[in-house]
Amino acid sequence: MAEARTANRPVLRVLSGEAIAPPPAWMMRQAGRYLPEYRATRAEAGSFLDLCYNPAFATEVTLQPIRRFGFEASILFSDILVVPHALGQDVRFVEGEGPRLDALEGRAQFERLREAGDPAIFSHLAPVFEAVERIRGALPHETTLLGFCGAPWTVASYMIGGRGTPDLAPARALAVSDPALLDALLDRLVTVQTEYLVRQLRAGADAVQIFESHAGVLPDTADGDALARFSLRPIARMIEGIRAQVPGAKIIVFARGSGLEGHARVVPETGADAVGVDWGVDLAALRARVPAATVTQGNLHPETLIEGGRALDAAVDAILAATDGTPHIFNLGHGITPQTPIAHVERMLARLRAGR
Ligand code: CP3
Repeated sequence: MAEARTANRPVLRVLSGEAIAPPPAWMMRQAGRYLPEYRATRAEAGSFLDLCYNPAFATEVTLQPIRRFGFEASILFSDILVVPHALGQDVRFVEGEGPRLDALEGRAQFERLREAGDPAIFSHLAPVFEAVERIRGALPHETTLLGFCGAPWTVASYMIGGRGTPDLAPARALAVSDPALLDALLDRLVTVQTEYLVRQLRAGADAVQIFESHAGVLPDTADGDALARFSLRPIARMIEGIRAQVPGAKIIVFARGSGLEGHARVVPETGADAVGVDWGVDLAALRARVPAATVTQGNLHPETLIEGGRALDAAVDAILAATDGTPHIFNLGHGITPQTPIAHVERMLARLRAGR
């Protein structure tokens, strides 16, 4: 049965190693503020977290970009920070500023978090699983449904800093002042989020993506391999844990900021099925660097999508040329931004679907 499903879903076929021309497409943050229908539902729902925890509204906004653009994949509408929230940390989204958490500064705050086996964690997240079920039921058959979570380091950096900071100074400072505490936090996130993704897959997600948005800023390590220590190994443990419960689960890892070499290490060192490529990496150079069978995803610059016109056409063509004959999923190199004109998304898809 699983094979029959895969056969009809282009994104799953690519994740199994098939090259499809033109490649199937979706966009990170495809349900978002650039869409008037999103802004309308968001206003009706109340706060951003109210939207995340309301299965009917979350389903509606997840489906909006599929209705409008017919993307080959749909991504569950939620946020990576619902997990710290489920662990008992205070999380709010401040209009125009982004997320704010009560910073985890030391042992006292860590001890107040829920333990990995606490059933309250997954009752808190129950609306997410209900949304996954509803979305899968409402999507066209051929559309792949992606679940997701943040990678342990990225989520931990928000939990420790209480907000996004360019240099992640608080999280890197904790790695020096109390490395055992950072490890305990990463371990808890590995355990809880392994189960979180297993439950999304059981609720109807066809594949999952792990967002390591902060792979470019890591604590120093004695051996100089911070990427392995703080990012790739915790992700590898999650993937092993997920596959032990859901054999053959398809998993994409987006390791933003890890550079050409970091991106090349993602699949071999985590066991992921695909590497999500950020806009800073030369896709042709990466394709030349990895085995031909490696599945890639990405990496149109979100600013090129804002620019539109011939620059956009050329960027789409360059991605097609770089990935020709290889298993690739077309995407942006980071999330779409609110000021992006809808007409540019249409132009991108027309160019892509016309082939080269
Ligand atoms: O991609 C999708 O359409 C699915 C939904 C999704 C959201 N956030 C919705 C969202 C996904 C996959 C995320 C992941 C996420 N959240 C990441 C990893 C990807 C990345 O962008 O690097 C991170 C770091 C977060 C944390 C987060 N959530 C930040 C930093 C912000 C504020 C920035 C912003 O764009 O406002 C959010 C808020 C957020 N998450 C919005 C959306 C649509 C905007 C909030 C709103 O509607 O007011």
